[in-house]
Amino acid sequence: MDHQDAAARIRALAGDRPPRVGLILGSGLGELAEAIESSSDIGYSDLPGFPAPTVAGHEGRLRLGAWSGTPVACLQGRFHFYEGHDIQQLAVPIRALRSAGCETLILTCAAGSLQPEMGPGELMLVTDHINWSGISPLVGLNDDTIGPRFVDVSQAYDPTLQEIAQTAAKETGITLHEGVYVWCLGPNFETPAEIRAFRKLGADAVGMSTVPECLAAVHCGLRVMAIAVVTNLAAGMQMNLSHVETMTVGSAATPQLSALLGGVMKRLALDY
Ligand code: HPA
Repeated sequence: MDHQDAAARIRALAGDRPPRVGLILGSGLGELAEAIESSSDIGYSDLPGFPAPTVAGHEGRLRLGAWSGTPVACLQGRFHFYEGHDIQQLAVPIRALRSAGCETLILTCAAGSLQPEMGPGELMLVTDHINWSGISPLVGLNDDTIGPRFVDVSQAYDPTLQEIAQTAAKETGITLHEGVYVWCLGPNFETPAEIRAFRKLGADAVGMSTVPECLAAVHCGLRVMAIAVVTNLAAGMQMNLSHVETMTVGSAATPQLSALLGGVMKRLALDY
């Protein structure tokens, strides 16, 4: 599954200002794209190899433009393995961003919190993950021109980017929790017993995305930052979980996340 044709289209649209930072918007977080200036959009259907998103709240287009001076490529609409996509296809958009010029990838996602004191609407910087699904977009023949067969993920979430995020959080007066994200396949939410087990394993937040993209990104040499928006306490810690709640709480937290990412982009702009 090749990403080069999609990358060529992104490069053509970007002209003399290639994207340096890729950004993926999680459920309910689509409004973040409004912070991007001088933008031009391209639909996923015009990007060869990109799957079509099927989940409510995921637009299905890529936006190029500038955020606080940083040239970005923003994926408005993400792909989840539970939608039935081929796992290897989940790597295509990430590799296309890399080959179009991105050096950094910022992942955003909605998540359930395993920490009672980290409630709905709060932000968590992902410092590490647990791949509970046991699935990887890197299975299959390895293309050594993209990255190595065996990838070191002992610093999957770039420590320098974590510092930048915390500095931006302090400047904007936003509390940025830190913790471990566990990837569950979905599309069902977890059971209370699973959540109790994950807490024992050292997880702080649970979600259905982010990890496959992180793995594909580290493999192809992107620096990764991930921020989870807590949209609910995890199963067994609150009554009734729903995608509607994910969307509404995610959307309500968007201004805060937008301010934080604006601070991050301002710092990254100094490099470009
Ligand atoms: N579990 C999994 N994914 C999620 C959750 C959750 O509780 N909340 C938002 N995305």
